[in-house]
Amino acid sequence: MAGSSVDPLQEAARLHREGALAEAAGRYRQVLHGEPDHAQALYHLAVISCQQGQFRDGIDLARRSLMGDAHQPRAHNLIGMALGRLSRPEEAVACFDAAIADQPDFADAHGNRAAALMELGRLADALAGYERTVALAPHSAGDLLNLGTALHRVGRHEDAIASFDRALALHAGFPEAHLNRGNVAAHLGRYEEALASYDRALAVNRRFTDALRARAGVLLLLGRIEGALANLEEALALAPDQPGVLGQLVDTLLARGETVRALSAVLQALAAKETSEAKALFVRCVGNRSLASDPGGTRAAMLRALSEPWDRPTSLAVPAASLVKLNPAVKDACARAVHAWPRRLALEDLTGRLTAIVDDRLLAVLLESAPVCDVALERCLTGMRLIFLSVAREGPATPTEDGLLRFWCALARQCFINEYIFDATSDELEDVRRLRERLLRAIASAAPIPVLWLVAVAAYLPLHSLPGAEALLDRPWSPAVAALLAQQVREPLEERRLRDSIPQLTTIADDVSLEVKQQYEENPYPRWVRPAPADEPRTMAQYFGGWLNAEPDEPSRVDILVAGCGTGQNLVETARQFKAAQVLAVDLSLTSICYAKRQALALGLTNISFGLADIGELGESGRRDQAGAGGVGRATFDIVDASGVLHHMADPWSGWRALLSRLRPGGFMRVGLYSKLARRHINAVRAFVAARGYGSTLEDIRRCRQDILASAQDEDARKVVQYLDFFSASECRDMLFHVQEWQMSLPEIARFLGESNVEFLGFVTDAKVIHKFKIRFPQDETAGDLALWNVFENENPDTFAGMYQFWIRKA
Ligand SMILES: C[S@@+](CC[C@H](N)C(=O)[O-])C[C@H]1O[C@@H](n2cnc3c(N)ncnc32)[C@H](O)[C@@H]1O
Repeated sequence: MAGSSVDPLQEAARLHREGALAEAAGRYRQVLHGEPDHAQALYHLAVISCQQGQFRDGIDLARRSLMGDAHQPRAHNLIGMALGRLSRPEEAVACFDAAIADQPDFADAHGNRAAALMELGRLADALAGYERTVALAPHSAGDLLNLGTALHRVGRHEDAIASFDRALALHAGFPEAHLNRGNVAAHLGRYEEALASYDRALAVNRRFTDALRARAGVLLLLGRIEGALANLEEALALAPDQPGVLGQLVDTLLARGETVRALSAVLQALAAKETSEAKALFVRCVGNRSLASDPGGTRAAMLRALSEPWDRPTSLAVPAASLVKLNPAVKDACARAVHAWPRRLALEDLTGRLTAIVDDRLLAVLLESAPVCDVALERCLTGMRLIFLSVAREGPATPTEDGLLRFWCALARQCFINEYIFDATSDELEDVRRLRERLLRAIASAAPIPVLWLVAVAAYLPLHSLPGAEALLDRPWSPAVAALLAQQVREPLEERRLRDSIPQLTTIADDVSLEVKQQYEENPYPRWVRPAPADEPRTMAQYFGGWLNAEPDEPSRVDILVAGCGTGQNLVETARQFKAAQVLAVDLSLTSICYAKRQALALGLTNISFGLADIGELGESGRRDQAGAGGVGRATFDIVDASGVLHHMADPWSGWRALLSRLRPGGFMRVGLYSKLARRHINAVRAFVAARGYGSTLEDIRRCRQDILASAQDEDARKVVQYLDFFSASECRDMLFHVQEWQMSLPEIARFLGESNVEFLGFVTDAKVIHKFKIRFPQDETAGDLALWNVFENENPDTFAGMYQFWIRKA
């Protein structure tokens, strides 16, 4: 063969075919050395880069190749696939379009385009793409699998099964097709059929973790928990890092009541790697439960969960308090406080315990983050507050070491967060009044202010209520006191300054609206500190994907109305949930709106505008009244949120209609309404409140709470103590003293939806509730039949103890 030279391009292609990627790349580079724009060499080098996971290089090389020869469908297709791997599906679709324009029967490009469309939530387009792919390549089991998946996603379940069966007829040992077939059967409530499909998949590949997990999911639904656990442990052993496996194991263990085992698994995962999934699982594990033990590491994780936070701090308040009470010093002090009640904990009760209590970081973070929702701990803290007050009263000379002062500041912040709901005797309040006078004189004199006076007063009343409180901000303080002043002086001042920036969008003249407004001006609801963490914002298609039968035109911006935004806790979550969201938040209460606006600004949310408005005035007649008056005019929205508000109107149905008139056709509305059935315990206590004639002043709310606790032998009263709302003034007032409260039933809601031509989409509730419903009513594929839900609620009357929370869609 002397003298014969091997064509480097052919040689490169041979090496590439044989999988010798580095050597093949060397040869292609050799070609490019002589001819830098060689389109073929550039393309193949691009393929190798992608095979090696270097997608950006692959894209650059393929683009250079296209500069030499623009009509290369496979180069466009390759760039599209690489963009897909870089999570840039929109740009990927444009590349597949270019590939298809050059070669209309390019089945792979159609399939890849459809996959990108699926990712974008454009299900109908994706389905059409897969149908075209299968028409072009009818013997491709993989394409039939994808088609089946898309059919399932758009709700054509039997067609999906038929597509999987066609794939299996071509390739009987195709585990993914068995798995997907099983998933559709499970979705249709045909659990035994689903299990048979999973078994077939596992017979082909026992290491197929998706099938193990799917099998476990169905076994869990069927209550066959041991089998589910065995499958999940097998899956976890095979793929410890696979997203979702741990979650399923945790849910299964929780379903079996094995909280500690579930928690241990999560803590182990957190120790190995701090993923957001593991953090969310920690939150799910601790749930709203009291924890009786710490398997090790729970306390440290809870400290971070509360302070970073990993969820709304209020959602963690119960387990956090239970962990705090595992501290023996706290536990003993609580027991003594409960034993002594209504007398208060004495200083001697803290002997030998005080340091361990004030140094408890978790207790301090809890105090600063959410209302303490535990009666024993509340009594202990109520007693400690009084002890500290006596110390402060003794004069400015009283020495205070740092740790104690920090704790005391945390306690004062707790009192502000719960809106001073702790009980206080008249003697105690008289002492506070006198100390307040002394403090005011000190502030006015420009002499040094005894810090103990300041903190003691802050534990009984908000510092911003003191005349001249702003001046406190100009003095130097330790970090703990500065944080207390930020909470009690600076932030309320900011809210006051924001008042002039809020436009009035409608008249507020209805008698009930005026009474309700008054309530929330006095007690804005709720006083929250930190929001739940924000996920990556999603498009409407991504968010509502499962509920979309037809393709929506994805709006370039998503207009959202949050009606009755209160202090904005739900609002900021909603504003961060959707891509390109522009939110209008309205409420009757200016004080609530200003709290919401301050929080939104602090979080850097610039996509929310605020206005004072009565929902009842947002309908047709209200629109005419406000025409040209700078009101909300004719604005309509893609999404309306009305959580926990309609039931406080004179006529909730008419308020609901007014909001529906603001919803664009095809728009989505989230509604939260009280369930008459679930609130039966609360009604019993409301009757108790009415019979005893308590008013809604803070003093009466405090007294009423203590009377309820004293009569807590009563079953219903005890139930009310389990509501977190019991532990702060605005929420307790909202729950037991509301000036206007409607309660609904599901048949009433169903009737309204029928008359209003809107579609019920589904409840926003714990996945476990939906599972339980599906087991009870397997015929209701989408869990969307309100008549069946009514039966379910009557069988499980506490299902909607929070509220009925659901999504509807305008026709
Ligand atoms: C229980 S709070 C709920 C706040 C918020 N949606 C949430 O879930 O946290 C009810 C809020 O609805 C507001 N509200 C009640 N009736 C209203 C009406 N007719 N128009 C506008 N807002 C109203 C109240 O002022 C209050 O802030």
